[in-house]
Amino acid sequence: MVNAPSLVTNPFSPPLAVPHDPKFCAVPPGIDLLEAIVQLKKERNAILLAHYYQEGDIQDIADFVGDSLELSRRARDAKDASVICFCGVHFMAESAKCLAPDKIVILPDLEAGCSLAEACPPEALAEWKRRHPDYTIVAYINTSAATKALCDWICTSSNAEKVIRAIPENEKILFVPDRHLGDYLIKKTGRKMELWPGSCIVHETFNARKIVALKTRHPGAKLIAHPECDASVLEHAEFVGSTSKLLEFVITDPAAEFIVATERGILHEMRKRAPGKILLEPPVDTGPDAAKGACASCNECPHMRRNTLEKVYLALRDLQPRIEIGEELRLAALRPLERMLSLK
Ligand code: 13P
Ligand code: SF4
Repeated sequence: MVNAPSLVTNPFSPPLAVPHDPKFCAVPPGIDLLEAIVQLKKERNAILLAHYYQEGDIQDIADFVGDSLELSRRARDAKDASVICFCGVHFMAESAKCLAPDKIVILPDLEAGCSLAEACPPEALAEWKRRHPDYTIVAYINTSAATKALCDWICTSSNAEKVIRAIPENEKILFVPDRHLGDYLIKKTGRKMELWPGSCIVHETFNARKIVALKTRHPGAKLIAHPECDASVLEHAEFVGSTSKLLEFVITDPAAEFIVATERGILHEMRKRAPGKILLEPPVDTGPDAAKGACASCNECPHMRRNTLEKVYLALRDLQPRIEIGEELRLAALRPLERMLSLK
């Protein structure tokens, strides 16, 4: 694993965020939020995109719910909309803005971050790159636009294996920032890679020993896991995949019971699409991650949960907070993003 340096100038200016003035922030009392949101969506010609880790009520009013890859494609293809209301986290909304620069992109809570994106600041990556100019850098989409701008490829958990296999054998690879996904890819592809020491505070909390004990009590249950989980969990999984792939597996696999090792928001769609199946939540460890902002007792992403129906209403009403990215940075981040999206 690489030692992540912590200095040196970022060649790109940081993304500009337009602050949301709190004096406009009150939701009128007695309002029917769902009706008001539907109305505002029409008035603003807005499309509402939501990640599977959002609250169920947000998923239910979204025009499209998907994983990181599907949401990027939807943002790119949202030709007729004037506004994209992105119910997810900051790096996702930034990717949407890179891919759809002519749209107003709003994120209901601008503070919705990500422990992975935070783990690989552009300054540290620029410093590593300066010292290792001969590496091809593959970034998980869970990175800021400024970090993406320094990379050769972007991947998501849906297409990471395909991206790694597309890189010629003679190229040396640095994979940022998720060391667990990177480690999983090394095992899957046999490709040697340097790994950045980042992790997801939600997927890291699952406890392999307790999961094995749960499996013993439910011998018919299949463990399905997101590749952001630690190897000690993945080695017991019957299936590993992105949120969309986990959903598809629950729908199509003949098993009746599953232990779902990812953020619990996905259970909402799983229950809708596979109503007869029994879905178990894996035990978590409280440990030091609780101190880093993770939920102390569950697999809920504190960043994803910053978005609420009230904030969606306010964002659509005020067209704030917006994602703004300088054109030089946008074009630099777009290059590896488009390279990923053009992979067949
Ligand atoms: P996917 O959407 O690719 O499954 O990734 C999950 C995640 O952690 C998003 O933050
Ligand atoms: Fe980031 Fe993990 Fe939350 Fe996804 S679940 S946004 S990877 S902290």
